[in-house]
This record gives sequence, C-alpha cells and structure tokens, in this order.
Amino acid sequence: MRIVNVDLGERSYPIYVQAGLLPQLANVLKKHNLDERIFVITDDNVKSLYAEKVLAELLDADMQAKLLVIPAGERSKSLQQSDILYTRLLESRADRNSVVVALGGGVVGDLAGFVAATFMRGVPFVQVPTTVLSQVDSSVGGKVGVNHPLGKNLIGAFYQPRFVLIDPDTLKTLPQREIRAGFAEVIKYGFIHSREFYDAVAAHLDALFDLSDPEQLESTLYTSCRIKAEVVSQDEKESGRSAILNFGHTVGHAIEALTGYAQFLHGEAVVHGMKAALHLSLQAGWLSEQSVQEAVELLRRFQAPPLPADMSFRALSEAMQKDKKRSSKGQLWVLLQDIGRSLLTRDVSEEQARRAVEFMLGES
Ligand SMILES: NC(=O)c1ccc[n+]([C@@H]2O[C@H](COP(=O)([O-])OP(=O)(O)OC[C@H]3O[C@@H](n4cnc5c(N)ncnc54)[C@H](O)[C@@H]3O)[C@@H](O)[C@H]2O)c1
Ligand SMILES: [Zn+2]
Repeated sequence: MRIVNVDLGERSYPIYVQAGLLPQLANVLKKHNLDERIFVITDDNVKSLYAEKVLAELLDADMQAKLLVIPAGERSKSLQQSDILYTRLLESRADRNSVVVALGGGVVGDLAGFVAATFMRGVPFVQVPTTVLSQVDSSVGGKVGVNHPLGKNLIGAFYQPRFVLIDPDTLKTLPQREIRAGFAEVIKYGFIHSREFYDAVAAHLDALFDLSDPEQLESTLYTSCRIKAEVVSQDEKESGRSAILNFGHTVGHAIEALTGYAQFLHGEAVVHGMKAALHLSLQAGWLSEQSVQEAVELLRRFQAPPLPADMSFRALSEAMQKDKKRSSKGQLWVLLQDIGRSLLTRDVSEEQARRAVEFMLGES
C-alpha cells in the first residue's frame, strides 16, 4: 500500500492508495478508532455501483451504518442539500461522535465535508473519493463547501478528514470522458512541480486513460496526492505559493463560466487554459517554442471538446475580471519557467493575454 502523509501538525492525516482497498473500509475505520455510528453520504450513481456493498460490509463488521443518498450532479452542492442532510442526521440521532464518510466524486466530497464541518460544530470526516478528479485533487487539501446562486464554491470551510481511502479499482466504472478530464489535473502537477512526473505521465498516458496498467495508475494517483499535499501543507490557507495549483485555471474558469458550466467538464476547460498559460510562458521568454509545441501536442491527446467558434478574447477577458481569485492588484497568473517549475506573476499585459488566448482558440 502507498501512503501519503499530509503534514498539517495535529490535523495531519494519511491518504491510503491501493487497488482493492474499498472492501477494507471497515478495518481502516476501526484502525482509526472510528467505530461510532457511520453515515455514508453518496450520490445516486455511486449508490448502486459501490455504496450499497460498502454499507453491507460495514454492517457485517458489526458497525452501525446508514446510507444518505443525494442526487448526482453539481446542483446538489447547495445549502438546501446540506440542510436536507442535517435533517436526516438529526432524525437518525447522529451525535458529535458520529462519523461522516463521503463516498463519491468531488460533489459528494465537498458537500459531505461541509456538512461534517458544520454539523454540531464538526464531526469526524472520512473521504473515499471515486473519480480521478476527487482522488487526485478535491480530496486533498481540506477545502469543503457548497455553491451559492451567485457563484461556485463561495460558502465553505477548511476541514481535514481523518483519512482518505483511494481505491483505483473504483475508476473502472467511470465514463472515459470523466477519466481524461480528471487526468488534466494530474498533468498539471507535472507542469507546475516535477519534470520527472510530467515525463512519466506523458509516457504512460494511454495506459492511464484506459486504466490498463494498475501499477502505473496507483503510482500516478499516489504522486499526484503527494504533490498536492506538499503544496498545500506549506500553505494551508492558500495565501501564497499554493496558487500555483491554479495553472491553466485562470482561463479555464473563464471558459467554464462563459459556457454556463454545461459544455465542458472542469478538466477539459483546464486543458484549454493550460495551452494559453504555456503560450504566456513562451512570450515571457521562459519556455522554448519546441517545449510548448510538445506540451500542446500532449494536451491534444486529452481530447477536450473544441471551444465554441464564437468565443472571443473580449468575452473571456470579461469573465476573468469577475473571477473571485482576482484581487484589486490585478490578475494573478501561473506561468512556467520550465516544465516542472512554476512561478506566480501579475506581470502579464493585456496584449500578451490576448495573444495567448488567440493561440489557444486557434489550437482548439
Ligand atoms: N475541494 C477541492 O479542493 C476541490 C478541488 C477540485 C474540484 N472540486 C469540486 O469537485 C467537484 C467535481 O468533482 P467530480 O469531477 O468528481 O464530479 P462529480 O462528483 O459530479 O462526479 C462526476 C460524475 O461521476 C459519477 N461517479 C462518481 N464516481 C463514479 C464511479 N466510480 N463510477 C461511475 N460514476 C461515478 C458521479 O455520480 C457524477 O455523475 C466540483 O464541484 C468541484 O468544485 C473541489
Ligand atoms: Zn482544477
């Protein structure tokens, strides 16, 4: 088994990564002294795929467990859905020692984590992510929360789980498009933090997409968690350096917003956004023409749907102005000094941004 230790002082916790680990959940909970009542929050896709079996296994292990099922999809990440879950917990006589287990993708993780953080001022929380995105990104770092009608992820908290259990076998039922979009965050870790990891992911990309090399898959998930854990543990509240995790996201978020969060999966928008960020790094004189070409070719293999023909720099630029991560000091960009080395800068002119966006639009 591979274990990432997320180092956050007394709130440190392990991330376990191993194929076939999900059926061991009862044992791992007991090992962590989490033997009070267990509330497994899941969505209605994951329910029949995994959650019913997990519930049966917890009951078999003599644990008191209950399933709470939410509708699948981003719309469930809401205060209304949190309220429904508080009510279900109270009706089931959950108390301070009850354990909330999030079993599902990032939607379930963010929502269940928010409920765990706020129910009775915080109950023990466990993450069992079942999508690539949630295994490599949303389950690491302790950000939990819900959306507000006026914007995504605006209501939330930092709340760390007691452990994260990652079973790569759960990815076998995930649609191919979700898999590729999740791996966009993986290649991002290579770009911003490690040339070696970037090369390894590039060399095995097809096997990763079709989940045909279990050893490579496990080590890739592990290294992704390790890189994110390293970046966030140095900067837990996101004041500084961890903004490098937003590589490709400045433009990516604008693409998602402009298309009403309906046309592109998050990772697909980030694939396009990374092309723009690569071009900015070229313009800044950091990256060579050749390494940008190679990186863009790699990103093409993610097969993100093309951007709408009528998408313009102007519209994207307006959407970027509205991004919550933009401060009064101007837009913060993540650029690459080299593959595997990132830097944060506000020193990007309107003209440079326009050229980068036009490169991206032309590439798609
Ligand atoms: N907290 C953070 O730091 C952080 C970071 C990145 C993203 N996020 C959030 O994560 C969310 C997106 O997460 P996501 O991409 O996992 O989406 P998701 O949770 O909506 O899952 C995608 C789809 O896959 C289904 N699914 C889940 N596991 C499956 C499996 N094993 N087999 C088959 N189908 C399965 C789900 O039911 C859903 O339909 C967004 O709300 C985003 O804001 C949070
Ligand atoms: Zn992202």
